[in-house]
Amino acid sequence: MPASTSTIPTLELNDGNTIPQLGFGVFQIPPADTARAVGLALEGGYRHIDTAEMYGNEKEVGEAVRASGLDRADVYVTSKLNNGFHRPDDARKAFDGTLAALGFDYVDLFLIHWPLPTLYEGDFVSTWRTLEEFKADGRARSIGVSNFQITHLERLAAETDTVPAVNQIEAHPYFQNDEVRTHGEERGIATEAWSPIAQGEVLGDPVIGAIADEVGRTPAQVVLRWHIQRNSIVFPKSTTPARIEENIRLFDFELDAGQAAKIDALDRGEAGRHGPHPDSFAYVPRAR
Ligand SMILES: NC(=O)c1ccc[n+]([C@@H]2O[C@H](COP(=O)([O-])OP(=O)(O)OC[C@H]3O[C@@H](n4cnc5c(N)ncnc54)[C@H](OP(=O)(O)O)[C@@H]3O)[C@@H](O)[C@H]2O)c1
Repeated sequence: MPASTSTIPTLELNDGNTIPQLGFGVFQIPPADTARAVGLALEGGYRHIDTAEMYGNEKEVGEAVRASGLDRADVYVTSKLNNGFHRPDDARKAFDGTLAALGFDYVDLFLIHWPLPTLYEGDFVSTWRTLEEFKADGRARSIGVSNFQITHLERLAAETDTVPAVNQIEAHPYFQNDEVRTHGEERGIATEAWSPIAQGEVLGDPVIGAIADEVGRTPAQVVLRWHIQRNSIVFPKSTTPARIEENIRLFDFELDAGQAAKIDALDRGEAGRHGPHPDSFAYVPRAR
């Protein structure tokens, strides 16, 4: 039986909009498989989809939302500006392209995917000002950033008027990214944790396995629940029907303080980081 959508909590963002705290991520889902996976997720009760121009599957996400029969307003959709389009005119064209690919007249949330401080003369500020235009014209209900370090956030705070609604960053038990998360919390920037189960790497950890036994849940549910209790937003990716269903069942159990503290203690700091470092990442994919 699908989990009731009413069981998924929403968080209020700093612009007054709300976001479902659990969603469904589509990174590395090939376009041909995306509509089926997103369709299963929507059928199973997910109401928040996280995509990006870089993932190459915005079109299929839009198709799945339409095929679901749900009202557009009942599904929260995020996309992201690809790395080749940081200059304002390029960002405007890319955002038009994202809306056209999705087949929507707005997205709920639009993010700068990476800060790219070594490209574009380090100017992500003009890019951010361009996203402010999309918010002002209503085509992005909320705007935010992804992979921004504290220095990047401080620069936006000093030079622009809008505080990002979210910062989407790598975070999981082995790389908890707490300084960036806490910095955001203190400034009203919600944290979205990407690769929340470290693409599966943390699921064999004996500490997590022992807690899973204690609470009668799976390791993935324990880790996702830990994120929820840290007030992070998560959108685990899966193309496996049973896992899509498993990953939404997080709201009828809790970790106690001792169990959460044991997961906190698994942090490996920088050594636990999986993805690229935002200070040096400079990958620019080919234009579509
Ligand atoms: N902003 C960024 O730079 C950035 C970077 C990376 C990711 N993201 C976002 O974050 C989302 C999630 O991150 P992610 O896709 O990297 O990794 P993830 O959600 O941590 O892990 C996905 C992997 O775990 C497996 N899995 C899922 N649920 C499972 C379960 N219950 N038990 C066992 N294995 C399970 C999946 O396998 P199967 O599919 O085979 O089931 C897949 O291989 C992405 O889809 C994307 O939306 C953003």
